[in-house]
Amino acid sequence: MAFVRQSWYVAAWADEIKPGEKLARTLLGEPVLLYRGAESGQVAALEDRCCHRGLPLSHGCVRGDQVQCGYHGLVFDARGQCTMVPGQALIPPAAKVKRYVVAEQDHLVWIWMGDEARADAAQIPRHPWHDDPAWEWVKDRYPVAANYQLITDNLMDLTHVGYVHGRTIGGTPQAHSEAETHTVPTDLGVRVERWMMDSVPPPAYTAAAKFNTALVDRWMEIDFFTPATVRIHTGAVDAGSGAREGKREGGFAFIGFNTMTPESETTSHYFWSGANKRQPGAPDGRERLRQSLEVTFGEDKVVVEAQQVSLSRKPEPLGMIASDAGMMRARRLVAARIEQEQKP
Ligand code: FES
Ligand SMILES: [Fe+2]
Repeated sequence: MAFVRQSWYVAAWADEIKPGEKLARTLLGEPVLLYRGAESGQVAALEDRCCHRGLPLSHGCVRGDQVQCGYHGLVFDARGQCTMVPGQALIPPAAKVKRYVVAEQDHLVWIWMGDEARADAAQIPRHPWHDDPAWEWVKDRYPVAANYQLITDNLMDLTHVGYVHGRTIGGTPQAHSEAETHTVPTDLGVRVERWMMDSVPPPAYTAAAKFNTALVDRWMEIDFFTPATVRIHTGAVDAGSGAREGKREGGFAFIGFNTMTPESETTSHYFWSGANKRQPGAPDGRERLRQSLEVTFGEDKVVVEAQQVSLSRKPEPLGMIASDAGMMRARRLVAARIEQEQKP
């Protein structure tokens, strides 16, 4: 399986792993046991395979800050070092399992899937909106039966919004296809900027915000962080009120966080969150936001899973159209990284 390996990926939402609990997950084709120490509260990640007879450690249990295999009781610490062999004083030096470097940040557990010495937490894309009281947000993880890059493609090319999401965030398909679009390189990836001036606000926008004009000026900024994170900042304000000059107060604003961690070549963990700017004096809008995003991402899931079935049957040939520019840029960045890593 060709994946970018020298990289951080999201392994879990932080609250998926409570103190003293464990979680088994396959990441980039590797079985990983995640657990949170009952005393330290720290998340650790080990290869989910006991070095004694190979039983997955996830069959065992967390003991304090260590994990005990469920077969013959060997105990391993967060570094993967065996610290106890029942019935013998000597611990064989080779008794250890691979550990992965993890970093908990912005409510997410990130895992480094490459060489340990190269792990640098400063490279993790930040998402401060998860701790900003001016925003209300909801999140989830979807298992998706599709290659992770099909989800990236979907997020990078929002012309699909008019066709796939007519019931929620769509608006008119033509306005999306004709939106003014720029693609610009960034430090860690690429950004696609889109403007839809004088356009009809979609249902999710009018439900969440008040506009004083029938038409709105609508923006979408899509930031791709190599290899598999996409941040989407969208919003709209009254038409002609200066959004392009930076006046984005009032109106509607949304920040979407999306990251896709490959499980296998054809299955993915899709972690997403969506945040709306709180409207002054408005009641808690999270339930409505959740419902709307579940419908929206459910619509995308149907598309990419059907695409995977179709592409597994017949991968080539595929066509290209103008709106593919952003997603092709993202795909080229990933391909270049994989090529670079595979050089001897
Ligand atoms: S297989 Fe884990 S202790 Fe024997
Ligand atoms: Fe979509």
